[in-house]
Amino acid sequence: MSDANKTHIRIFDTTLRDGEQSPGATLNFGEKLEIARQLETLGVDVIEAGFPITSQGDFESVKAIGAELQRAVVCGLARCVPRDIDRAGEALQGANNPRIHVFCATSKIHREKKLKKPIDEIIRISIESVKQARQYTDNVEFSPEDGSRTELSVLVDITGAAVEAGATTINIPDTVGYAVPDEYGHIFAYMRDQLPQLDANDVYLSAHCHNDLGLAVANSLSAVQNGARQVECTINGIGERAGNASLEEVVMAMRTRADFFDRFDLGINAKKIYPLSRMVSSMTGLMVQRNKAIVGENAFAHEAGIHQDGMLKHRDTYEIMNPSAVGVPDSKLVLGKHSGRHAFRERVEHLGYTVDDETLQKAFDEFKALADKKKDVYDEDIEAILDQQLESSRQLWELVRFQVTSGTGVIAMATVVLRDATDTERMAAATGDGPIDAMYSAMQQITGVQTTLKDFHTRAITAGKDAQGEAAISVNHSGRLVNGRGWSTDVVEAAARAYLSALNRIRTTERKEVSATSPEDSEEPVSQP
Ligand code: KIV
Ligand code: ZN
Repeated sequence: MSDANKTHIRIFDTTLRDGEQSPGATLNFGEKLEIARQLETLGVDVIEAGFPITSQGDFESVKAIGAELQRAVVCGLARCVPRDIDRAGEALQGANNPRIHVFCATSKIHREKKLKKPIDEIIRISIESVKQARQYTDNVEFSPEDGSRTELSVLVDITGAAVEAGATTINIPDTVGYAVPDEYGHIFAYMRDQLPQLDANDVYLSAHCHNDLGLAVANSLSAVQNGARQVECTINGIGERAGNASLEEVVMAMRTRADFFDRFDLGINAKKIYPLSRMVSSMTGLMVQRNKAIVGENAFAHEAGIHQDGMLKHRDTYEIMNPSAVGVPDSKLVLGKHSGRHAFRERVEHLGYTVDDETLQKAFDEFKALADKKKDVYDEDIEAILDQQLESSRQLWELVRFQVTSGTGVIAMATVVLRDATDTERMAAATGDGPIDAMYSAMQQITGVQTTLKDFHTRAITAGKDAQGEAAISVNHSGRLVNGRGWSTDVVEAAARAYLSALNRIRTTERKEVSATSPEDSEEPVSQP
């Protein structure tokens, strides 16, 4: 089919909103801005940048992202509550391409048990909310939350009403990841059949799928085959519970199976996928599982002899995509002791990082120090150096030095020195159940932040005895899960850095209120959908 006749499928990225709802995945202002910039470069059509009513941080990031981005539509989420919509409208006031996304639950169980409102009332509130949002922008999306479990007749009624009130996109969320592909696709076909005004008014239908049954991508693709023209997804598939549909999987499924998706086109520059996947993983502290499709470490690894043999004879025997098509670097062995600053900068850019000169210089110094210790320096080493630099640049506390003693039959002890934001060095010593426990206790004494360690693991990021170690931890702080990562050739130091990164995150990101569920304009805290 010629390009001119193809239907453009909008990619709506919600990494910064639904994705950030993954336990522990708190992002600060600078991180959100950087991810948004990279999403625009990737070519996504819409970026859901946050839920402005939930926190000042979300408000500020929606505002900054909306004002900076030139091409992508920037969207703020709001319940069907007047103050939510005003807050989203205010955040988007200076945006180049604003959208307000309002949602209200519609399924029987949500109507009866959560909202305790009849459907007529819910339709009325939804109409008023869409109209209110239209006062701020003519780009308004409406979502009947738990749409896939809503009676089709109710979906038709509420959607028709929302369109008449001015909604330009209708999103049907599979909020709890319950739908199966045929069923979900049927909803879209049915809606288009029953509501000819959708096509007549160029209203976009949109899919938003959660992955509780591992069907988020399959459901999204089924929606596209049945008339959805927007897919909502996240980088690495992060999101509430089992996550959202993964952007890279949706995009590469449609591209690789162009025979099935020939009628559609996407504006995505797929080569940016891998670097952005790494960035999101590093900033959220959510590791990508090794066997994750498209961006996992093993996604293009061929282990079985038969496969390796086939690959050597012809790549297409066992490879359906070329790794370079999604930006996976061909070779991972890159630089050594004698590599210069220029080569280092090029490699950094190739890996998808945009860093200022000062950070680059510090990273280069680190690289030189590492190259002195290590024979081969791989991409993963360079990424670790950069991630560590970026992590340090947003820290309130910095690690100056530490010393630990431990062994069989002795009580582990640690002395730690941290530098605070006023440049003052502070020291504490503690004993513990092993060197890491002792070190973490000393750091808690210095920072005054009490946490419980929930998860701790380390791994070598490249092969060999001289490899760098990565420590990844999750801590609980007053009921909130926060992740941290650290890197070093010394695994105890990596553990210290990981803990410090979590402590810094606790201090530099806000907690979002999550409890009330009513769409009334109450003074209750806001619930995340
Ligand atoms: O999953 C959901 O229902 C949502 C809505 C806000 C679209 O995230
Ligand atoms: Zn969702």
